[in-house]
Amino acid sequence: MREFIVRARKAPVDADRFLASVGSGAHVEYLAHIIVNALFISKGHREDASLTLVLEDSADFSRALTIQGNSLGSLSGMNEGALLNTCATALRAGKSLQKEASIICDDGIIVKAISFEHLVKEKAATRVVYMLDRKGDDIRETGVLGNPVFLLTDHIPMPKKTFNSLIRQGVVKLSLGPTMLHASQCISVIHNELDRLGC
Ligand SMILES: C[S@@+](CC[C@H](N)C(=O)[O-])C[C@H]1O[C@@H](n2cnc3c(N)ncnc32)[C@H](O)[C@@H]1O
Repeated sequence: MREFIVRARKAPVDADRFLASVGSGAHVEYLAHIIVNALFISKGHREDASLTLVLEDSADFSRALTIQGNSLGSLSGMNEGALLNTCATALRAGKSLQKEASIICDDGIIVKAISFEHLVKEKAATRVVYMLDRKGDDIRETGVLGNPVFLLTDHIPMPKKTFNSLIRQGVVKLSLGPTMLHASQCISVIHNELDRLGC
């Protein structure tokens, strides 16, 4: 299973504010590109991929929206608007969640009230976790281990404190080359590298 976790620091947890930030403010439309690149391929989807978007602009707790390729329900559409509406519906369903509680929506999306840091700590206990960073080990030289988890940020860099804490937990910095890419583009490159290695 290839798992991607994207930290979206400015993305609103409130569904109405989330939708209102399309084209302005948090510009959450980039999340739709991430969903497409993480989970879909021509004429199908990736059974072996999972994507978690951690939305952090919240009055209470961050919300982690997890969409899994192997239990992908019938999403209402693949265009940007439809995908963002799907996220907004999940956020409404998870509005009243208590800390660390979760629900599974009808379309298979899991909503959990959990912070990025806690989520990564859970993963790092049992999985190899890679943090995307241009100054990290080159993906073509380091050899990605099985069942990997990849961490990405939006346009806001990872805070230094979180960065150092992740390194202490054994998270490995991974580079995709010298060009600064969008998070959605990083995901396509990672898929391609792993596809070519057959893993
Ligand atoms: C748009 S970038 C973030 C840009 C942010 N302003 C910064 O300076 O880190 C989104 C994500 O992609 C990752 N990223 C972009 N290009 C990369 C590359 N060539 N190698 C590894 N990670 C990359 C970043 O580390 C970040 O997690």
